Formats: sequence, C-alpha cells, structure tokens
Amino acid sequence: AQETATPAPGGATPPAAQKKLSVGFSQVGAESAWRTAETKSIRGEAEKRGVDLKFADAQGKQASQIQALTSFIAQKVDVIVLAPVVETGWEVVLTQAKEAKIPVILVDRGIKVSDESLYTTLIASDFVEEGRMAAEWLAKQTNGKANIYELQGSTGAAPAIDRKKGFEEALQKFPDMKIVKSQSADFTRAKGKEVMEAFIKSDRDQIQAVYAHNDDMALGAIQALDEAGMNPGKTVTLISIDGVKGAFEAMVAGKLNATVECNPLLGPLVFDTINKVRAGESVPKFIKSQDQLFEQANAAQVISTREY
Ligand code: AHR
Repeated sequence: AQETATPAPGGATPPAAQKKLSVGFSQVGAESAWRTAETKSIRGEAEKRGVDLKFADAQGKQASQIQALTSFIAQKVDVIVLAPVVETGWEVVLTQAKEAKIPVILVDRGIKVSDESLYTTLIASDFVEEGRMAAEWLAKQTNGKANIYELQGSTGAAPAIDRKKGFEEALQKFPDMKIVKSQSADFTRAKGKEVMEAFIKSDRDQIQAVYAHNDDMALGAIQALDEAGMNPGKTVTLISIDGVKGAFEAMVAGKLNATVECNPLLGPLVFDTINKVRAGESVPKFIKSQDQLFEQANAAQVISTREY
C-alpha cells in the first residue's frame, strides 16, 4: 500500500514514501526444536526484507491464536500468517479476516474449514506422506514384523492426525506390524520421556519399535530407554519425523535409527508467496515442501550440512 505523500514545506512534493508491509504471524508456540527453527526462519526473513512483523506466540492454545488474529485484523495488517495449533474451529475468525480483505497464509499445518476461500494457501509438508515413509522404512528394517509403540503429537493438530493416518495406511500391507500402544506426548521431549517410561513400565519385554511423530519426543523416549538399560537404536528401533540437529546427533551416536525430514525453513517461501498474492498473481492452494528420509548410515556424512 502507498502512503499519501505530504507536501514538503515550501510547496515541493517529495516522492511517495513506501509504507512497510505489515504481517501478523501467529505461531503455535515453542514446543520443539523444529518450531524454534521455523520461527527463526520467518522472523529472520521478515527482518531481511524490512517487513513489519507482528509476532504472537500462542503457547499451544487455539484461544490465544484467535485473540492474536482478532488483534491483527483490528490493526489492519496487510497479511496474516497462521501456523494453526489445531485443525478445526477457525471459521469465525477467518471469516472476519476475509471480510476485512486480509489474505491468510497457512504455514506448516493445514486446517479443516467448510469454505476453502477462508485462506489463500497452505505452505507445508505432506504429513500423510511422512507417516507412510516412516512405516515403509520401519517395515523394511524389521522384516515386516514388529510391536510398535507410537508417540503421537498434540491432539487435534494436523501433523498428529496425518502422520498417524499415513503410518497406519502403509502398515496395512504388513499384517505382523502392530501398533501395540499409542499415546499423545504433545510434541515435547519431556512428555516423550514420560510416556515412554509408562510404556516401559507396563510392556518392557514387548517393545521392539518406537514411532514418534517428531524428533523431540523420540529424543525423550531415547532417554527413558537408556535409563531403563534398553539399548535404543539396537534392541529397540526408533524412527521419528522432523530432521532436527538433535536427531542427527542421536543417529550418529547410534541411538535413533531414522528420521523423516520436515522442512521448517519456510521464511523465504512465505514472503515470496505474500509478494505474489499482493501482486494479484494466483498461487496454488497447497505449496508442498519436498522431504527425504535420513538414517544412521548417512547421518554422519550430512550432519554438518544441517541448518536446523
Ligand atoms: O507442524 C509441524 C510439527 O509441529 C513438527 O513436526 C513438530 O516438531 C511441531 O511442533
């Protein structure tokens, strides 16, 4: 948007001043190393481009995100960027954004709304595909036979729902791969450890594999397995998702077996997309990141190239 040029004293009109682009970014929280990397990428890119970024950390609460969005709308920001805590319950506030003509860009997580025009685009990984990749790798690694213990992400969040869905879909081809227990550990390392401790307490001798919806929970589970003397990475096979530095370190140490990358470095793509939207260009409804799987065999080789 252009600001009206004010006539300079003496009558001459200065060149029109360019108003800074203002973007409201509502972030989930700081539950994992992955999310911290995403925040850093978006904030860093905003700074580089001279964007006025209004950042709000929801600390895992949808109510706080709705409050932040309401405030962004009242401040008349140019664009809203939303990383939604959960999938549902967005209709009212997104309708208000639409009525105020503020485009909403979803980052890293999708939502379920009856009217898809309530957001402009979703920039993210395909979580169902990540779940499938994890299951197929695990089936190969265990010759299609394993008692699996699943650590789910936060209840109601797209990555928890879709990573479970993709994993279960792929397991259908392997009748001897069984999810014995599955519980949410909220995407955090502390909860991952706590839930794993409970699994160990009740099922110690049956645990052959762990599937964690993110690396932080797997790292917590590794700690619990280590403390119980259970040899993570050897007698218990672990796979998780994200590809954070800590996961690579655990793979190099032989304690985590594999991780499926999920790219959090979305800053440049987010602001390129905002520019296109503001220029009236059409953008796809889903801008998908390409992810790959890393395992112990290639971890040492690539660890120094990891950016997050
Ligand atoms: O939405 C992405 C997921 O959210 C990441 O995998 C996880 O670490 C997180 O907090």
